[in-house]
Amino acid sequence: MPEILLLPGDGIGQEIVPEAVKALEAAGKRFNTVFRFKNALIGGAAYDDCGNPLPEETLRLCNESDAILMGAIGGPKWEHLPVHLRPEMGALLPLRKKLGLYANIRPAVLFPGLIDASPLKPEVVTGLDLMVVRELTGGLYFGTKKREFVDGEEQALDTLVYKTGEIVRIGRLAFQMAQKRRKKLTSVDKANVLASGRLWREVMIKLGQEYPDVELEHIYVDNCSMQLVRRPAQFDVIVTENTFGDILTDEASVLTGSIGMLASASIGGKVALYEPSHGSAPDIAGQQKANPLATILSAALMLRFSFNMEDGARAIEDAVRQVLSDGYRTPDLMQSGGNQVTTAKMGDLVAEYILRG
Ligand code: IPM
Ligand code: MG
Repeated sequence: MPEILLLPGDGIGQEIVPEAVKALEAAGKRFNTVFRFKNALIGGAAYDDCGNPLPEETLRLCNESDAILMGAIGGPKWEHLPVHLRPEMGALLPLRKKLGLYANIRPAVLFPGLIDASPLKPEVVTGLDLMVVRELTGGLYFGTKKREFVDGEEQALDTLVYKTGEIVRIGRLAFQMAQKRRKKLTSVDKANVLASGRLWREVMIKLGQEYPDVELEHIYVDNCSMQLVRRPAQFDVIVTENTFGDILTDEASVLTGSIGMLASASIGGKVALYEPSHGSAPDIAGQQKANPLATILSAALMLRFSFNMEDGARAIEDAVRQVLSDGYRTPDLMQSGGNQVTTAKMGDLVAEYILRG
C-alpha cells in the first residue's frame, strides 16, 4: 500500500493539501489503489510547535514514505527569525538537499478553458506546453554565503558553483524528459558572463552527443525570459540552473493563467516531493479562496513519477481540464461568465470528475 506523507505547512497549504488528497483518493478508487496518508509538520507550523522548522520526526517520516505531498511554507510571522530558523532556509532547502532532490520538474500547460485568463494574447499563448527542469540542489542556493567587513563597509557574498557531475545528472534527466515529449531541449545559461554558465554549456553540448534524437539549443537567460512572453509555444523542455529556474518558472506559471496552476515535482532521490510552485499566500489564507489546482496537478505528477500510475495521472489532469472548461473558477482565475467556487468546492468537483471518468 503506497504511503504518502502530507506536509500541509503554512498559510493556504492547510487548505490546498486536503483537496489534492481528495483527487488522489478518487484516482485510487478508480484504478484500484489504496493510499495510506500520514501527516507531519514543516515550516512555520513546525517552528511554532517545537522551535524547529524541519523537525527530526518529519525528516524520519519523509524518508519512510513512498512520496511526499507538500502545501506551502513561510509567511510574515516567521520572517523576523534568524535565517536558519526561517521556513525557506531552515526547512525547504535542507529538505531538498537531504532527500537528494536535485531535479525540479515544472510543467506549464495552457488548459483551453483558461486562454482568456492568461496575460498573453490568445494567439501568442496558444499551444503553450512546456516543462522546466530546474537544477535544485546547487548554484547560488547552496554555494558558500558570507557577510563580512571589507575596507570599513559590510559586504555580502553568495557563490554560484556547479560541478561537472551536477550538470551531467540534471542534463541527462532533461534529455530523457525531452525524448518522451517533442524531442527539443533548450538549455538556458548566462555563458557570455558567468564561468559556471560556460561550464554548463560545455557539459550540455557534450551530453547532447549521447542523445542525437533530441534537438538541443542554447539560449541566454535574459533572452529566454523574453522569449517566454514573446513566443512561448517554441519551448518543449527547458533545462537550467537553480536560480534561473526559480525565476523562469514563476514567469512560465502566469502564462497559464495563474501561478495557482503550476505543479511541481522534485525528484532524483529515493523519495520524491510534490508541491505547488506558489507560496503560502498569507493574505488569503483561511478564506477558502486559494486555487488548489497546482497541488492537485502535483498529485498527478506523483502518480506518474512515483507510482508509475499514468492512467491515474491522466485522469486527474483530464478532470482539471474538464472542470475548467465547464467554467468553474477560483478567484485567481475568475473571468466574467465564470462560476466562482471555493477551494473545497474546486477539490470536490475535480474528485467527482475523476470518478466519473
Ligand atoms: C520555489 C520557491 C522557493 C525557491 C523558495 C520558497 C525558497 O520560490 O520553490 O520556487 O526559491 O526555490
Ligand atoms: Mg520560486
